[in-house]
Amino acid sequence: MSDSTRGITRQHAPSEWLHDPEGFAETMPRGFEIGVSTAAFQIEGAVREDGRGPSTWDDFMGQPGRIADGSNASIATDHYHRYREDVGLMKELGIDSYRFSLGWPRIQPGGSGGPNRAGIQFYDRLIDELLAAGIKPMATLFHWDMPEPLQHKGGWMLRDTASRFADFALLAGEAFGDRVDKWVTINEPTTVTLNGYALGIHAPGATLMFDSLISAHHQLLGHGLAVQALRSVGVTGGIGITNVHSPVHPAKDNMKTRAYAEVFDIIHNRIFADPVLLGQYPKFPFLSRKLFKPLIEVDPADLKIISQPLDFYGLNYYMPSRIRVGAPSDDMTPDGITVAIRSLPFHLAPLLEFPKTAFGWPIAAEFLTETLREYATRYEGVLPPVYITEGGASFNDAVSPDGSIDDADRVSYLADHLAAAFEGVPGVDLRGYYIWTLLDNWEWAAGFEQRFGLIRVDADTQDRTPKRSYHWLQKVLRART
Ligand code: FCB
Repeated sequence: MSDSTRGITRQHAPSEWLHDPEGFAETMPRGFEIGVSTAAFQIEGAVREDGRGPSTWDDFMGQPGRIADGSNASIATDHYHRYREDVGLMKELGIDSYRFSLGWPRIQPGGSGGPNRAGIQFYDRLIDELLAAGIKPMATLFHWDMPEPLQHKGGWMLRDTASRFADFALLAGEAFGDRVDKWVTINEPTTVTLNGYALGIHAPGATLMFDSLISAHHQLLGHGLAVQALRSVGVTGGIGITNVHSPVHPAKDNMKTRAYAEVFDIIHNRIFADPVLLGQYPKFPFLSRKLFKPLIEVDPADLKIISQPLDFYGLNYYMPSRIRVGAPSDDMTPDGITVAIRSLPFHLAPLLEFPKTAFGWPIAAEFLTETLREYATRYEGVLPPVYITEGGASFNDAVSPDGSIDDADRVSYLADHLAAAFEGVPGVDLRGYYIWTLLDNWEWAAGFEQRFGLIRVDADTQDRTPKRSYHWLQKVLRART
């Protein structure tokens, strides 16, 4: 772990709104929605209960050395058993909407065939509980927990997986289509391809580098087929996808650095957003066309399926990227460690001028504004209403002797990022912001090391303790007119 990427180099300046949640509420545009976001595998636990099948992450977390603290998610935050208490906490908080994911292996344990009744019933209960609490459900169909039998055959490297995913979407649409307010087909296909299939930081742990790119196309095709499946069963809610966006800058203003920055922007952002919103892959730079060959050769009919009009577009924003020429000097990436990265001719340079989260991610709300600006320009005229479907920060929260958690840095992070979202940019119809996340949870390859929650969870007792950020947000939401 290098100091430059992980060390807290600067203190995050406290927000002017830290002591004035009511004043902050006055700056919120009327009708702007506030939610919290979670993912099934990170919170549910109960991985072997009620007929749930194993997922690619069940397998991955059991492999030695994969998870930073050696932990696993088999209990996680025990949300499967405590969902009522958790919805109660959300109701008290006063959010408008809750984004969660439907565990594919809980609903369709083997990745094909009819549904597992107990899985359907769990989400039935959760959705009904939310509606009774006046909270609108936003359901993500794929937040990375692919049924193991499908992974075994090749996962997203296989075209057929897109059709299997559409079958799952159909089951989910039939079961919950009358009550889900918004559907997200896939969460961050970028992260799945880069971390899962190229660099091996996430499940399934493949290190295919550029040979992984077809997994991006198959996810996008799965998205398009899932949109069709949901519409075919007449779901009443809106349908979208969630991509993570990182504005990319060259560390130096010379041709070579600019060229690598362009390649990274393509890999991280454009190959996922352009097909969905523009119906085409980006123009690949001449010198790197060979690397992108699988995407250049795709069937144009696929792009028609991928680019169907959406009701909304989900954007996750966490941080910007700065690209520097040369192989990385260590194996650290923003999400974990991998030697595979050393084969690249460029690397992510640390943004030393910004304060950092415990994960080492730069805190820079102005790049949320830049993200919105890039979308306004790149997708002018075709961008549906946008929701920030994730944004948040991990900090090493300290518990005071009286048991309270004063996470003032998280409050400042949220105030700064929410302020940027309230401000918005011309050309983007931004409707809401979902905070990552409700509970301290199991943070993929970081295990329990990174705490992102508004609520602390004691790993031994599973007791939930709302932090200062929870109480601050509650005051903001109560003061809304
Ligand atoms: C996003 C993921 C989410 C969580 C946050 C911190 O990339 O979608 O599950 O891990 O990062």
